[in-house]
Amino acid sequence: MRLKDKVCVITGAASGMGRVACELFAREGAHVAALDIVDDAGADTARRVRAAGGEAAYFHCDVADESSVRHAMEAVASRYGGIDVLYNNAGIMPEADHSVIDTPVEVWDRVMAVNVRGIFLCCKYAIPEMMRRGRGSVINIASFVAQIGCSVPQDAYTASKGAVLSLTKSLAIQFRPEGIRTNAICPGPIETPLMTEWLLKDEAAKQLRLSRQPSGRFGRPEDIVNCAIYLASDESDWTNGAIITIDGGITSNYF
Ligand code: NAI
Repeated sequence: MRLKDKVCVITGAASGMGRVACELFAREGAHVAALDIVDDAGADTARRVRAAGGEAAYFHCDVADESSVRHAMEAVASRYGGIDVLYNNAGIMPEADHSVIDTPVEVWDRVMAVNVRGIFLCCKYAIPEMMRRGRGSVINIASFVAQIGCSVPQDAYTASKGAVLSLTKSLAIQFRPEGIRTNAICPGPIETPLMTEWLLKDEAAKQLRLSRQPSGRFGRPEDIVNCAIYLASDESDWTNGAIITIDGGITSNYF
């Protein structure tokens, strides 16, 4: 088991990649703290893990809210005795996020609050727990859109994911002497509710997006979570400050 007895906090655990991460991390022996704001589905994630023989508990946590994050991290540390891995997966991509010239300010602010402040706050309260143990791994989920432009813009989302990459580099340098590594994954388009609810809802849009994908299919949550397992495990001891793009090749595609 690659994550035996590691306490792994996974945000955005109620859906998509976060839910699959909880399941696959637990299969590798992790003690999974599943965090989300959608309590029914989040608790269901933890139940599914336990039903499969793994260890998981659900904690309500709005990553954009400081007291919610502080309480959740305290509750995780008190239940499991500390934190080894922080998997910053929670993120939003609202439909009203377009170009800078037509995105409402409140949409911009909300995207930044969840996607950037969320990672800041989770790190603020989880990293001291890791420092007490003298080890840890922070895994930040960014996106391939932080690396290339797009003619159908989502400017708040894109900027937020760029910030995640810069913060990853800074944390990697600051905290490696404390035994804590920080890395980012840039997923390409993955079939999860976030994608299917509006980006892929009509067949023409889906085919247009697929036509740019050298692998001929969208990603599956496992394509990303398998990399996260590596980053959470001791196998990645010398991997720090890395930005790992897993996108089926889409960012290599000039045309
Ligand atoms: P999803 O929409 O299926 O799941 C996101 C989860 O985050 C949901 O359970 C939601 O309730 C939770 N969440 C939202 N706001 C929250 C908050 N304030 N506090 C705590 N939890 C909150 O999304 P998916 O596709 O699984 O995305 C996971 C991550 O991967 C996100 O950061 C997303 O930006 C990123 N990503 C997704 C891609 C895709 O194609 N699906 C591509 C590249 C990056």
